[in-house]
Amino acid sequence: MKSIHEFHKYKSAQKKISVVTCYDYTSAKIVNDSDIDALLVGDSSAMVMHGFENTVFANLDMMCYHVSAVKRGLNNKLIIADLPFLEHKKGIENTFTSIDKLMKCGAHAVKIEGATGNLETIKKITEAGIPIMGHLGLTPQSIYHLGGYKVQGKESKEAELLIQHSIELQEAGCFSIVLELIPEELAGLITKKLEIPTIGIGAGAKTDGQVLVLQDLLGMDKDFNPKFARKYFNGYETILNALNKFNEDVKQSEFPSSSESFL
Ligand code: KIV
Repeated sequence: MKSIHEFHKYKSAQKKISVVTCYDYTSAKIVNDSDIDALLVGDSSAMVMHGFENTVFANLDMMCYHVSAVKRGLNNKLIIADLPFLEHKKGIENTFTSIDKLMKCGAHAVKIEGATGNLETIKKITEAGIPIMGHLGLTPQSIYHLGGYKVQGKESKEAELLIQHSIELQEAGCFSIVLELIPEELAGLITKKLEIPTIGIGAGAKTDGQVLVLQDLLGMDKDFNPKFARKYFNGYETILNALNKFNEDVKQSEFPSSSESFL
């Protein structure tokens, strides 16, 4: 996928959209050669790449650093970048300056979490011709307010508010909305109501597409096993075994061999 227009075409054709997060050049080169539709340089980079406790610790410099690295590994896929914690709450001028930086680093579109208090800002940004992806449900930048990584929209009042917010984000000009950690039926209902595609994570199978954190789908963290993240590869064990084999070969003088040496 090269542009946001394909997001809409996929929804019209009832073709599912696949998105993975990506934070570095080497991974971007692999994703570039894959059939994955689009990449998200998520602020989850603060946790996955830097070991912080949550995404509140992501900042604009961090995001720009990762967007630039990903951009250098890609030649034909859409890059969406997260606007990090509070960057859209410091006035419209700062919002535009931050988005300008992310886009000059290589982002084609920007994701903003939440609807409450953001609709006017999002409208101004989309009216300026900048593609914005919304994000509803569990919005990790509000983790302290939400009180933990819990499924959102279980109560009917909460669910109604999520439906209302999704419509408002569409009206504000968002080209797509991430739905995170909400019940499958609610995600399906929102998806049916919207003209723009929904991308789910922990939101069941009824969204227009799915996003996973690359390191989760590659099984890189043996201690992180959320119900919604299927592991397509045993990255942790495979890499551990490779490291231990290298160690063993070094200790036994089996690496390097003569063919790996300059004679
Ligand atoms: O930062 C991120 O990885 C995200 C996804 C969970 C959608 O926002």
